Amino acid sequence: MALRHFLSLNDLSSHELQAIIEHAIQLKKALHNGVQEAPLKQNVLGMIFEKSSTRTRVSFEAGMAQLGGSAIFLSPKDTQLGRGEPIEDSARVISRMTDIVMIRTFGHDIIERFASASSVPVINALTDSFHPCQLLADIQTYVEHRGSPKGKTVAWVGDGNNMCHSYMNAARLCEFKLKIACPAGYEPDAQVVEQNKDWVSVCHNPDEAVTGADWVATDVWASMGQEQESESRIKSFANFQVNHALMAQANKDAVFMHCLPAHRGEEVSAELLEDEAISIVWDEAENRLHAQKALMLFLINELKK
Ligand code: CP
Ligand code: NVA
Repeated sequence: MALRHFLSLNDLSSHELQAIIEHAIQLKKALHNGVQEAPLKQNVLGMIFEKSSTRTRVSFEAGMAQLGGSAIFLSPKDTQLGRGEPIEDSARVISRMTDIVMIRTFGHDIIERFASASSVPVINALTDSFHPCQLLADIQTYVEHRGSPKGKTVAWVGDGNNMCHSYMNAARLCEFKLKIACPAGYEPDAQVVEQNKDWVSVCHNPDEAVTGADWVATDVWASMGQEQESESRIKSFANFQVNHALMAQANKDAVFMHCLPAHRGEEVSAELLEDEAISIVWDEAENRLHAQKALMLFLINELKK
């Protein structure tokens, strides 16, 4: 039995990542053609949310139902998780009653501790450090619209946050060049830069990062848990909005992605977000469903090996 977790993209090889993306594309076609199978019949997904979510909750819950299984939503408000039961105890108990668990939480150490005590696969549905499920969807979306990202140039404009870190891991696994532009003081984690240094560069100028890019991505300026910094971040990030003028520096057929939710008029202009010739954010959001179905099938199938 191979118990595999998905705490960051680094838990997959390049080959496995590619296989999951290809499977996600097939699952999407099957669903759109009305073909549904139930390979995860009677399987149960535990979903622990310590932060808010729309896309992640709906995509995991709908995905599990489509695969023939079911999902249980667990929040700290109404479980013992919010009353101080040790994370390792929670992991041991929840994993005895479920087949797979996803967690959205704050510190990355929390999900690492949960995974170390869990007897079933654990999926990172966002921590302060990484958001790898979103990258599965983003890569799938690029492949569907433009083909393989290998050899392409991607620009990340904005905060050196959890999404940025997952883009950095994706750059190494998919072999694309990642040019990051962030305000001084908001750079990504130095250790993640070091791990991916052959694929990643960091600057403080959005024009420089976007020049020659095939794919431009951004995210909110203040992530969940940073609400009290919103005002100061709006000032620091003022020159980092992705809009048509910035996209004009990119390659002619460049696409724009955003994990959503978006703050129109802050990190992205309303006009660009709504310009479906460039912005592929709605396909990107939908692909959370397909990519995570492929991920869950991969992790559960690994258990049989
Ligand atoms: N992109 C994303 O993870 O969205 P939610 O916060 O709505 O789940
Ligand atoms: N960086 C954002 C992503 C939301 C999906 C956050 O952590 O809030």
